[in-house]
Amino acid sequence: MHKDLESVVLTEAEIAQKVKRAAAWLDEKFAGTTPLAISVLKGSVMFFCDLVRAMQTPVQLDFMTVSSYGSSSESSGMPKIVMDLAASVKDRDVILVEDIVDSGNTLVRMRDLLMGRGAKSFTVVALFDKPSRRKVPVKADYSCFEIGDEFIVGYGLDYAQQYRNLPYVGILKREIYEK
Ligand code: IMP
Ligand code: MG
Repeated sequence: MHKDLESVVLTEAEIAQKVKRAAAWLDEKFAGTTPLAISVLKGSVMFFCDLVRAMQTPVQLDFMTVSSYGSSSESSGMPKIVMDLAASVKDRDVILVEDIVDSGNTLVRMRDLLMGRGAKSFTVVALFDKPSRRKVPVKADYSCFEIGDEFIVGYGLDYAQQYRNLPYVGILKREIYEK
């Protein structure tokens, strides 16, 4: 385990299992269609790649970079679109792939934006959910794992752009972000 971590929340093997289940849920829901899967960068990148590869349904891929944090561990409220999608979402079944739903601000922002652009349907799959931190009432349609009010890193999730390439997810020691 990385020295800055307090404990491991999900091992590589546990992540693989969760990904498989989420992919099966999507396959059932989207059978017979070709949805557009959107990765909300950068946090969801690892989850996204594993998830779409575990799906049987033919999906198209697109990417959007959204930034909400600066380098603190508290969300700034108004997520900023840093890089927009390449494809049109008009009349498409959109699958939004998120790393974690925390305050819910990013999710609401994405939903309003993509539905406003004429998406036919909007389905959110999140690797993590932190329900106790919600500031706006939204929910992912599918979330793999629920956690309390802890700051986690790894498998795409960062603190100040670090730890994203850890292959597992762990709780960051408080002394790292409270110093
Ligand atoms: P929200 O807009 O507050 O729901 O959260 C948006 C983003 O904050 C997520 O997509 C993550 O990138 C980031 N985030 C929230 N909680 C954590 C965490 O525990 N670790 C790392 N990033 C987090
Ligand atoms: Mg982040």
